[in-house]
Amino acid sequence: MNYRHAYHAGHFADVFKHIILVAVLESLFNKDKPLCYIDTHAGLGFYDLSKRESKKTKEYETGISKIIDNQTKKPAAIEQYLKIVRSMNQPQEIIQYPGSPGVARALLRPQDKMILTELQPNDYQTLKHNFEGDKQVAVHHLDGYQGLKAFVPPMPRRGLVLIDPPFEQTSEFEMILKNVTMALSRWAQGIYLIWYPVKNRPQINYFQHQFERKIKFPYLITELNLYPDDSPNQLNGSGMMIINPPWQLDKKIPAILKWLSQELDQEQRGNTKLIIKK
Ligand SMILES: C[S@@+](CC[C@H](N)C(=O)[O-])C[C@H]1O[C@@H](n2cnc3c(N)ncnc32)[C@H](O)[C@@H]1O
Repeated sequence: MNYRHAYHAGHFADVFKHIILVAVLESLFNKDKPLCYIDTHAGLGFYDLSKRESKKTKEYETGISKIIDNQTKKPAAIEQYLKIVRSMNQPQEIIQYPGSPGVARALLRPQDKMILTELQPNDYQTLKHNFEGDKQVAVHHLDGYQGLKAFVPPMPRRGLVLIDPPFEQTSEFEMILKNVTMALSRWAQGIYLIWYPVKNRPQINYFQHQFERKIKFPYLITELNLYPDDSPNQLNGSGMMIINPPWQLDKKIPAILKWLSQELDQEQRGNTKLIIKK
């Protein structure tokens, strides 16, 4: 387990993932009923971009740095996401960046709950420290898929799971499929957000084919790619699969993709995708 998200916080794939997370959560706030947010691979919760890891890669320059000061009109989910990031920073400066638990926590209402699992021992300690004393948040030092088994269906039964593994193992797609199938059998009404890197298109096609065969629930797939598929040895983009998407999420995503691709892919080398399975 070598992956440390501190090297990648705020990069373009993080921005895309966190904006989709905001869009999904916001769609669930139309009812007062409580919800539960489960983050299986939670990371640190919050990142300091002035630290050595971030400074070494400067990956935030491909993502959050490009849009933090943008004043143009934007889709509501992007506006909300930027409001969260700006609220943690001084104007004209970006030092603090929220991970997925930080983004979700900024939006949760008093009646909502959050369950976080993280396996890397040091990152778990930081995550735990970051949410110390927060009665709405439970933090566990646990494998994300074991956590999924242990915590679904959650109480309250309304809510969503983010599955955002590091993809260090070639079997990660298989593990996702196996564990999501298991979770759906226990919690059919849950919303599942699955992040994946776009590096190897044939592997993604194979996974999506398997997914289509096995998942008998509505879902959508969306991708933001900054480079063509055949660019070697790099992250060309990223995707999210959303099982049981909230009502009208598919209508909100095209504007999000359009805005992000204009701002993050100014040379328009990449592409975007939205596939809807009813
Ligand atoms: C891509 S990062 C998560 C980023 C986070 N979701 C966010 O958006 O801010 C993946 C995280 O999974 C952790 N991890 C690796 N293997 C894991 C496992 N088996 N179970 C839970 N966490 C794991 C890594 O330490 C890393 O912090």
